Amino acid sequence: MIVCSCNSISDRDIHAAIDWMRASDPETIITPGKVYHALGKRPDCGGCMSLFLSTMRQNDNLVVPAELRGLKEHRMKRG
Ligand code: FES
Repeated sequence: MIVCSCNSISDRDIHAAIDWMRASDPETIITPGKVYHALGKRPDCGGCMSLFLSTMRQNDNLVVPAELRGLKEHRMKRG
């Protein structure tokens, strides 16, 4: 299924990019911008962003590394 019509990016392209980034660096934070960059593309109209993000969230490799989880709460507790 095409997710980004401006760049002809499919859900399979997005999942492949996420899997590749996670395999390359287990600690990396994966963002939509990094997915576009990994695919050699740039967002254009931005109309796909909601579907792009929901497609990314379906990938189990998107998880934030354990050591980086809860940093905001940790920082707020420290004041
Ligand atoms: S549809 Fe993805 S940038 Fe336009």
